[in-house]
Amino acid sequence: MADNILLIGFMGVGKGRTARALAALTGRFTVDTDDLIESMTKMNIRHIFAEQGEAYFRQLEQQTADWLEYHVSGTVVSAGGGFFMVKNLRRLGQVVYLHSQLESILETMRSHPNAAAKMKKRPLLQDMARAEALFAERLPFYRQAADMEISVQGRDSGDIAAEIATRLRR
Ligand code: S3P
Repeated sequence: MADNILLIGFMGVGKGRTARALAALTGRFTVDTDDLIESMTKMNIRHIFAEQGEAYFRQLEQQTADWLEYHVSGTVVSAGGGFFMVKNLRRLGQVVYLHSQLESILETMRSHPNAAAKMKKRPLLQDMARAEALFAERLPFYRQAADMEISVQGRDSGDIAAEIATRLRR
């Protein structure tokens, strides 16, 4: 098994900023699965969804997971919100689920200076009713997929990273 640390959770929960804080704290590198997919396809996520569809995007996530399994170790991986569905998730490393209520996630996103861009780049956040249904549907699967759950609501990424590092050392 690769010895990465994978951060999973819903869109906008703060996986990227927590991954960067955790990498800085532990001296690891960090990669983001959406960035890997964008560099592999030379397309942005929004265009992949619009032109090739979600099923194709999920195949790209699986290809990314296969690559991570054999080529990446010792790294903090910030995973896209649906990446937990890849077949080999648990073989990539320790899986940490970042949890927050959906209302709080959306509130944080909306108060960000780049709020519009953050929403626009996420095809599955275009319809709020659909996002709510997706959150409810995924919650038990995030929990099932993870080795550890961290409650991140209202917390600073440095503080969350410190808790992850401490709990992983145990
Ligand atoms: C998705 C989450 C996005 C991105 C894609 C699909 C999802 O990543 O992978 O838009 O299915 O939840 P973030 O969680 O980084 O927004």
